[in-house]
Amino acid sequence: MAFFSINNAACRRIALLLIVTLFLSSIHATMAGSKSRKAAVRMNVIDRCWRRDANWRSNRQKLATCSVGFAGKMRNNIGRGIIHYQVTDPSDDPVNPRPGTLRYGASKLRGKVWITFKNDMEIKLQKSLMVSSFTAIDGRGASIHIAGGGCFVLYKVTNVIIHGLKFHDCQAQSPGLIMGPDSKILPVNWGDGDAIRLVTASKVWIDHNTLYNCPDGLIDVTRGSTNVTISNNWFRNQNKVMLLSHDDGSVRDKSMRVTVTFNHFGPDCTQRMPRVRHGYAHVVNNLYLEWGKYAIGGSMNPSVLSESNLFIAPNSENKKVTWRQDINVQGRIPWRVYSVNDVFENGAFIKKPAHAHLHPKPWPRYNHEQFFRVVSARFLRDFTKDAGALRCSPMSRC
Ligand SMILES: *[C@@H]1O[C@H](CO)[C@@H](O)[C@H](O)[C@H]1NC(C)=O
Repeated sequence: MAFFSINNAACRRIALLLIVTLFLSSIHATMAGSKSRKAAVRMNVIDRCWRRDANWRSNRQKLATCSVGFAGKMRNNIGRGIIHYQVTDPSDDPVNPRPGTLRYGASKLRGKVWITFKNDMEIKLQKSLMVSSFTAIDGRGASIHIAGGGCFVLYKVTNVIIHGLKFHDCQAQSPGLIMGPDSKILPVNWGDGDAIRLVTASKVWIDHNTLYNCPDGLIDVTRGSTNVTISNNWFRNQNKVMLLSHDDGSVRDKSMRVTVTFNHFGPDCTQRMPRVRHGYAHVVNNLYLEWGKYAIGGSMNPSVLSESNLFIAPNSENKKVTWRQDINVQGRIPWRVYSVNDVFENGAFIKKPAHAHLHPKPWPRYNHEQFFRVVSARFLRDFTKDAGALRCSPMSRC
């Protein structure tokens, strides 16, 4: 009897243990399930397109189909004839680049070039790097700093992807010779020290980069550049962040169209997120974490649709999101920044244009390649939390 009762007790204990184990593991499974479901839901539309693929390394070119906004899909960067080029050498020669360097792949090679990096690198460019058309620079899988020297210029080019790089401490450049697109040697006299400067460039996608601390701006879109999407970037520690059209006389920038989305601005950005002249900007689903002077500014009759952004004002007096400059002769050219479904925190506010209700809102009118679903600004802390260059471990997802 005693024998059986001991055995019974042992059995009961084992059974209990089993039940508890099963119960715990089922709880664990549910938690893991809901966690991954949430993670999937919380990715924005661009990231969701490729980041859920654990095999992203073998499917790198999938990225080109994930862009949205005015750049459209970047399908011209992939497909037949694509050259896969790996950067193995962080050194730089602006006129006679060696194979293995970034400049060789980005400026000298012709046609569709998809550039990746063998390992982590800090690349100090001796002069600005001129990126050729049909070039994708893909920093995923390595930590790539473009720092301490020249930075990127996209001069009269089209179909360019810049993804996953860290730009900082770019230096203003003295005039000099540089190998330009398709290996032409050009005398170049601009180089204010912007991280990425577009000069008459079109169809450009700048995604998931981290940019900070440069002497001029971080991104400048100038001289008739258009069809640009600036997404998922992290801009921080910078006075002048983003300029869309650089001078009042640049009339051809009237047809400039830029989408600014899922970016994280701040901390420690002062102004121009962006500053717009002449053209049209759809500033949508960005997170603004404080600003020094203002977030969105403009002059020369631009149209800006500020849609479903989250503006968190600084603790200082400067709670106003926008700034405008009236330097045009008539002084009456309307300022058209329309705010739709923006969310304001910590006292942030936007001034509606006079008689705003009388004017049609400047919707972007995207085609099906450019269109994407705007999310509620309340979700933006999640949707922008991975803004900037991603850390992608070799064996897993980004
Ligand atoms: C910009 O994209 C549109 C299509 O959305 C196209 O019609 C137009 O030609 C492009 N502009 C330039 C300068 O590439």
